[in-house]
Amino acid sequence: MRLKTLGVILVAALSIFTLLYWVTDNARREVIGEEVDEELLAYGEVIFSADPAEPAAAGCANCHGADGTGGGEDSPAIGPNLHSRGLADKLRANGNYVHLAVSYGGVVVSGNVDSAMPAWSYEVGGPLNEQQIEAVVALVESWAEEAAAEPVEEVEDTVEAGAEVYTAAGCVSCHGPELEGGTAGPNIQGIGSDVITEFENFPTPSGVDQMIADYEEDPRMFLEQWIRDSSGNYNDGEATGMPPHPEGRLNESQLTALITFLLDQTGE
Ligand code: HEC
Ligand code: HEC
Repeated sequence: MRLKTLGVILVAALSIFTLLYWVTDNARREVIGEEVDEELLAYGEVIFSADPAEPAAAGCANCHGADGTGGGEDSPAIGPNLHSRGLADKLRANGNYVHLAVSYGGVVVSGNVDSAMPAWSYEVGGPLNEQQIEAVVALVESWAEEAAAEPVEEVEDTVEAGAEVYTAAGCVSCHGPELEGGTAGPNIQGIGSDVITEFENFPTPSGVDQMIADYEEDPRMFLEQWIRDSSGNYNDGEATGMPPHPEGRLNESQLTALITFLLDQTGE
């Protein structure tokens, strides 16, 4: 009789244990998953950094800023903010986008073979192996997803706020900090006083007459159409050297401030 009771208690204890294990199993698996992810992200941060004491550092931070919010005045070259809703949108359109851009460089981003952003994959002669690429890609993707989860940021319609948008939205990476232009984009310093119809080193869009007409009618409307989708609005859908900036990349308030800033630039 006693043995039987013991047996019943044992079986009951075992089933409770099994049940508890089963109930907590998912949670346990999630915790393990998070630990792995955190390790991956931490390794990604090492790769991203420009820390001279760290042999694995690839120096993304030199161009994208130490925290990935974009290069600025004190960095030698300029890369866009990677904590960006626009990047999250691209990732949604193509789940492999960040991996491709990091592996093969800026040509994936802009089609520009002379892009300042180099290719990083060993496969194409870059310095990073697949494991390192995966770590830094996981980090950048986590930044983009975080940015997309933030509420839409409304900016004030001022020249100063527009100047910040100019940097944050990545215009600076092609048109330069002083709008002076570079290898990937023309000088646009005079855009507040006239439409630019002849681009030095860049082909003239096929819709150039429409560009002039729209600018004469309303410079703000022209700039809106140009920035949102220069190829669709002014080049018969053929890609220009300037990527489109849909709502997800540049919300209405950011675009308004950006244009206020641009119209303030008269090239004088
Ligand atoms: C020499 C400067 C430079 C370095 C170093 C650099 N980048 Fe970039 N990066 C850029 C520029 C410039 C662009 C924009 C490219 C273009 O439009 O041609 C860019 C674009 C990107 C993009 C695409 C952003 C978008 O919104 O589409 C990602 C992702 C990125 N870089 C990640 C990295 C990572 C990760 C590293 C380090 C392994 C790195 N970059 C190192 C300059 C750099
Ligand atoms: C990847 C490089 C690149 C980026 C990023 C870029 N542009 Fe451009 N932009 C160009 C090129 C190239 C042209 C010349 C058009 C062509 O290719 O024919 C241009 C042209 C222009 C013009 C001249 C329009 C005219 O004809 O009067 C303006 C204004 C302009 N860009 C503003 C911007 C702003 C504002 C941003 C950020 C929201 C931006 N660009 C981002 C490459 C770029």
